[in-house]
Amino acid sequence: MANNLKGIILAGGAGSRLFPISLTGSKQLLPVYDKPMIYYPLSWQMLLGIREFLLISTPTDLPRFRELLGDGSRLGISIEYAEQPAPEGIAQAFVIGADFIGNSRVSLILGDNIFYGKLGEFREATEFTEGGFVYAYPVHDPERYGVVEFDDNGFAISIEEKPQNPKSRYAIPGLYYYDSRVVDIAQNLKPSKRGELEITDVNLQYMREGKLRVKCLGRGVAWLDTGTQESLLQAANFIETIELRQGMKVGCPEEIAWRMKYITNTQFDQIIGAMPANSSYSKYLRNILDIPG
Ligand code: DAU
Repeated sequence: MANNLKGIILAGGAGSRLFPISLTGSKQLLPVYDKPMIYYPLSWQMLLGIREFLLISTPTDLPRFRELLGDGSRLGISIEYAEQPAPEGIAQAFVIGADFIGNSRVSLILGDNIFYGKLGEFREATEFTEGGFVYAYPVHDPERYGVVEFDDNGFAISIEEKPQNPKSRYAIPGLYYYDSRVVDIAQNLKPSKRGELEITDVNLQYMREGKLRVKCLGRGVAWLDTGTQESLLQAANFIETIELRQGMKVGCPEEIAWRMKYITNTQFDQIIGAMPANSSYSKYLRNILDIPG
């Protein structure tokens, strides 16, 4: 269990790379196959045992997230909301979320990152007590990400944000775990050249102190990002392939709340009853309640 581990979901930003499809609404509310993008990071964190969330988005988009997810009680979790008036950096989430974090450990997930695969690979991070914990994932285009370099013994020795000449092919995915000291670290960061409080600078601070754990993810895990038209479509195709093959949904928060026993059968039944009966989504949920697999 992710005891005393709180979750922040960062879902702001302008989504400018996806223009014009992100023009009239939040990128993280765009569909990835059969559900809004935000369902995937929310579901992932729920599967890892997190039940207290802070969702951060723009003042314009926040009401839509509230409309979609409410206060979370329907799913047996709690969701608070906070505004990020301008996209001044991922690390700003810890400044905005200072009161929410308090003395707890915190996991930040980016609202446009999708994870799929062996949950077991992720348990260790939820149980760490001090410092920071991030992942490294091999990609063919590391220059688009925060890139970590390892020495011969597997220790992280450098992290660079979107380097022109990456020192490795290991990107750091948008899923981060820190102790409560992250608030202090973020509050003392200086904006980078592009005017943002960089998550890479938070990681560098922990690394300099010898307190950053970097775990390489194996091939059995899929980390997809949805930042460009191509990767958005690829993510949708990936989800469709898995779902049609298995007949089970990926990233379905209602199902997860029920399987994790955050809600009772009766509550699950009520949730389904409130959905349009002709939607494939509600039919799917009805089916698993009637014939649990
Ligand atoms: O996806 C993982 C990568 O995410 C990491 O490897 C990088 O180190 C990290 O900087 C970040 O890179 P991106 O280029 O993906 O960052 P981007 O500015 O696109 O922001 C990622 C998401 O976070 C995006 O959906 C918008 C949201 N965001 C971003 C910023 C800067 C906010 O909500 N507020 C912000 O201020």
